[in-house]
Amino acid sequence: MTEVPPPVPWAELRAAARAAAERAYAPYSGVRVGAAALVDDGRIVVGCNVENASIGLTTCAENGVASALAATGGGRLVALAVVAGDGAYLAPCGRCRQVLSEFADAGMVIDAGPTTVTLGELLPGAFGAADMVARRDPAPGTGEG
Ligand code: THU
Repeated sequence: MTEVPPPVPWAELRAAARAAAERAYAPYSGVRVGAAALVDDGRIVVGCNVENASIGLTTCAENGVASALAATGGGRLVALAVVAGDGAYLAPCGRCRQVLSEFADAGMVIDAGPTTVTLGELLPGAFGAADMVARRDPAPGTGEG
């Protein structure tokens, strides 16, 4: 028998993402971002962007989600809400799509305002763990040919 996944608690995810956005550290861009994800065991993990004076060291809200996932017991992400400080959907950046794909299947559902998108739609043909295994040189050389 196929198991029917429980419905996604979108209102709870959005509220958690908005609360996380309020805690964002974004003094340089002024763009607060909060993300909240549902884990396959029912947990909700959150993250916010944390900027740095060195700009390039800024971490995105979705990175916070990945850290919180690992730090609170791991699992797979099944649904995600990302919002800016105005409370509305913000598209995950390209790097974040890749970060999320480490912990989510292509079918992970992402709240996109009135609609939803899947991670697979945002990141088609993703490079992942299977590629690493398949393409690894069995006898890594020195790089000298
Ligand atoms: N930001 C995120 O937190 N997630 C994204 O997916 C896009 C961008 C943050 C990084 C930076 O602190 C601010 O938004 C402006 O780029």
